[in-house]
Amino acid sequence: MKNMAIEIIATGRAIPPKRVSNDDLAAQIDTSDEWIRSHTGIGYRHIADESVACSDLAAEAAKNALEMAGCCPLSIDVIVLATATADYYGTPSTACIVQDKISARNAFAMDITAGCTGFVYALETAAGLLSVGPRKRALVIGAEVLSRVTNWDDRGTCVLFGDGAGAVILERTEDKAAGGLLQTLLYADGSGAESLIMRRGGSRSPYKKGETIDTSICIEMNGQEVYNFAVKAITDTLEALLKAGNFSIDDVTRIIPHQANARIVLAASKRLGIPIEKFYLNIEQFANTSSASIPIALDEINRLGQLKKGDLILTVGFGGGLTYGGNIIIW
Ligand code: UT7
Repeated sequence: MKNMAIEIIATGRAIPPKRVSNDDLAAQIDTSDEWIRSHTGIGYRHIADESVACSDLAAEAAKNALEMAGCCPLSIDVIVLATATADYYGTPSTACIVQDKISARNAFAMDITAGCTGFVYALETAAGLLSVGPRKRALVIGAEVLSRVTNWDDRGTCVLFGDGAGAVILERTEDKAAGGLLQTLLYADGSGAESLIMRRGGSRSPYKKGETIDTSICIEMNGQEVYNFAVKAITDTLEALLKAGNFSIDDVTRIIPHQANARIVLAASKRLGIPIEKFYLNIEQFANTSSASIPIALDEINRLGQLKKGDLILTVGFGGGLTYGGNIIIW
């Protein structure tokens, strides 16, 4: 990586048009706008139409980013797509379907499964691939259709999730002063696998002939266990990122956390003594979109014109696996 930098040259997103409010949910299940807002900070979520799969949102976000970059899909060498809601189990990867949808015929393509930390993992994976091979551009996507794996009778989870996709284009440049992705820290703790899980359908527990598919295919979460993990994960990761980059919090322009629960971010900001205004939060509008939440937020903040060249950004993700980690980015 010595004589090169891996820059983010463009961002994009895709949000399904259908917006569902807390009151809409309260008309269906035993919940309320007051409970959801006070316990999570969520006001709305966007839900994809039945005909829309993960690759559809991912391809739309990718096209949006390509448009901003003004570059041709054929110039993309690598596609890395993070998702927990792939179009198909196992194969083909959703990244391959996106490659075809956007006609990026020169790119190789693969998926990353790292729960809500997926985009943080994917950025580092793509940057690593750009830094070792004869490759210049990567498309990195986080895309989810969580509504498809949500148990709509479980008020403990169904109020939390939304659908969407975000994408960035990474470019390798020989100009080291260009900034870009400076460093990434990644962690996993598989002993917590059971606390956030989609139990059925995989090789551990496949559906058998004649069996009726039920809600065991949906996301199950031990909310409190994951909450405690999440506050520690975000706190530890931010401390480690600052130490690794030798930065003080005053050097940081913005922290883009995974949008799982505004209370988690608030707890971390209090614990670390970081003003809450440093954190970019859009959970009120989009709810938890898992691996899409960080790139959606990054695109939003970018298109709002809130980032300028040289700004220091920290991302921090945490979720199923359990996984966590963060990126240091110089804009
Ligand atoms: O993105 C991946 C990472 N995911 C996360 O980081 C999520 C982490 N967990 C959380 O954010 C929180 O644990 C939740 C938001 C999921 C739950 O909040 P909580 O404050 O931990 O609530 P709880 O599960 O302790 O439930 C408290 C009460 C219960 O009622 P009782 O037993 O005290 O009578 C629940 O039945 O709230 C009830 N409850 C609800 N009430 C109205 C749970 N969900 C709802 C709901 N509406 N939607």
